[in-house]
Amino acid sequence: MKTIFSGIKPTGDLHLGNYFGALSQWVDLQHDHHSIFCVVDYHAITVPQDKKALHNNIIAIARSYLAAGIDPKKSIIFRQSDIKEHTELAWILNCTSARMSDLENMTQYKDAASKQINPSVGLFDYPILMAADILLYNTDTVPVGHDQLQHVELARDLAKRFNHDYGETFKIPSALIRSEGSRIMGLDDPTKKMSKSIGENNCISLNDSPEVATKKIMRAATDSDTVIKYDPANKPGISNLLTILSILENKKIKDLEKEFTDCGYGQFKQRIANSVSKFLTNFQEKAKHYSDEQVLTILADGQKQVEPLAATVLAKVRTQLGL
Ligand code: TRP
Repeated sequence: MKTIFSGIKPTGDLHLGNYFGALSQWVDLQHDHHSIFCVVDYHAITVPQDKKALHNNIIAIARSYLAAGIDPKKSIIFRQSDIKEHTELAWILNCTSARMSDLENMTQYKDAASKQINPSVGLFDYPILMAADILLYNTDTVPVGHDQLQHVELARDLAKRFNHDYGETFKIPSALIRSEGSRIMGLDDPTKKMSKSIGENNCISLNDSPEVATKKIMRAATDSDTVIKYDPANKPGISNLLTILSILENKKIKDLEKEFTDCGYGQFKQRIANSVSKFLTNFQEKAKHYSDEQVLTILADGQKQVEPLAATVLAKVRTQLGL
């Protein structure tokens, strides 16, 4: 069975884009993969975090994995900082295989650093820690959004370089990028990916009440046209809403276009609001099933399962280096 590994930073509520872009894909993959899903808390601290909020966010992300349908009997869910090998391997890769020029080229770093007056060294080094996450588990496949492709490619390059310089050690991973059809754009700016950092009305949080979500959808950007047609270049807002509806109701966009031929935007949005509300209510119901203690127990159990895997790979790395 192939191994998949992925993770999300515990930096706040997940939104609909995270759900369709990442979580829902993981849920499908777990049935025929050895699946490892990480709460990447060491990545979260590359930018300043409030102590209490971070602790709560770690539990909240793990709970979202569970509510989305990651089954702890099938998949491993664990917290990055519970496994010391992640930072150890990151340090080793820093020294052996990673070069300053690799990191200077990373778009996510350039983006994030431009928002900080004096960014942390950790923010710069972020992709190396991510490479360590992936390489520690002999990962075959990394399901991620398109924005993470550059990082997974770096992990591949580092693995190849290390194997070349020190002997066969790492499995070479590849990225699995979700299909374009599941890429959710911002509600108030449908030309960019949905993101909570753009603003409250840009995204629907998985914790939004149906009322709040409905308001955001009714306010979503459309166009001065009246036609409900999938045309991302000319009608990004309507196309994005069609994508959301097609995923939620499991219908083809073509069929939705037909269904809404003589329909106004208001009525179309109302239907999306209803579907989203149903989805959120269901998700939030499932999330409520897991107390903090239960989530922490699942994370502790995950830690036990991944510990020997990480230790084996790191021991091999140390041997190859003569440490
Ligand atoms: N950098 C990823 C993101 O921002 C999160 C992440 C950290 C990750 N380590 C990973 C994703 C390992 C996949 C595999 O989305």
